[in-house]
Amino acid sequence: MPHKKRPASGLKRDSIPIPPGEPDFWIAQENLERLNRIATRSEKGEQVNVLISGSKGCGKTTMAREFAARFQRPFHEVHCGAFIDNEQWFGKDRLDDGVTWYRKSRFVQAIETPGAVVLLDEINRAHPEILSAILGLLDWRHSIWNDDLGYEIRVAGGVVFFATINEGDDYYGVNVMDAALRDRFSRTIMLDYMPCKAEAGILHKHGLAEDMALKLAVYANTMRKSVNPVPISTRQLLVTTEEMLDGATLRKAAETSIINALSDMTSKKMALEALQWLEDNPYVDENIEIIPVKSE
Ligand SMILES: Nc1ncnc2c1ncn2[C@@H]1O[C@H](COP(=O)(O)OP(=O)(O)OP(=O)(O)O)[C@@H](O)[C@H]1O
Ligand SMILES: [Mg+2]
Repeated sequence: MPHKKRPASGLKRDSIPIPPGEPDFWIAQENLERLNRIATRSEKGEQVNVLISGSKGCGKTTMAREFAARFQRPFHEVHCGAFIDNEQWFGKDRLDDGVTWYRKSRFVQAIETPGAVVLLDEINRAHPEILSAILGLLDWRHSIWNDDLGYEIRVAGGVVFFATINEGDDYYGVNVMDAALRDRFSRTIMLDYMPCKAEAGILHKHGLAEDMALKLAVYANTMRKSVNPVPISTRQLLVTTEEMLDGATLRKAAETSIINALSDMTSKKMALEALQWLEDNPYVDENIEIIPVKSE
């Protein structure tokens, strides 16, 4: 039986939710100021496009979500690497009682919500052709005609687009970000791992004793800054913390969360040697004071 095709589904949908905040999330003062300026601009009804660039696990995705939480904005996240065709941005056909409905995507619903924060996560994992389908939404046009919906999709006032990007040789499956696309993200925030003291504070807040939290943060910092840097992420340190809270020794915890995942033998050897050094020197620099995490 041929399916009758109807235009946009009138199905009622939940509104885009405001995410809960992460009180432990540490943001450098200069970035806090940047986020405040972005929020002010968006409050005036302007669309703002922000690129967040940085190493793995340094808080890029969480920062976009945290922005939405702090400024009480509806938040929608798109995993760009999961897109296989252009049409996915806008909606898809759904079969209901023998009738095919075109259902508008959550992405379109989000960009039509005034003041929403839309995260295009890991934007350089999407094929450039897929991203070119939304270029019109990201520039002065703020809109795109869509045949299936039968109308021009317009970005609502004050929408903030964040895009995150991992750049460098270490990232398999990423594309170099197209110049036309990059140009549309007129603001860039370069994120780095937190300073040692702040990171120790986070690990302590997650339950690790102060001295151990500091040791682990010093370890990660040393490895990140070595001649052949080993980018140990905050995420990995949080797993090390979990492992230790579950009874593992520092060595076993670090093996499970960091060292066993290293494929390069030189990095592995360095990480093990630094760990050995940490075990042999139980006292870390007493001049480093950890920053306690303030709960709001
Ligand atoms: N500044 C920070 N303050 C507190 N926690 C942090 C911070 N940065 C990262 N984390 C923690 O590390 C984990 C990873 O963060 P997130 O996923 O945001 O990083 P990412 O940069 O997006 O990683 P990826 O490159 O893998 O996508 C999260 O649990 C997050 O809470
Ligand atoms: Mg991320």
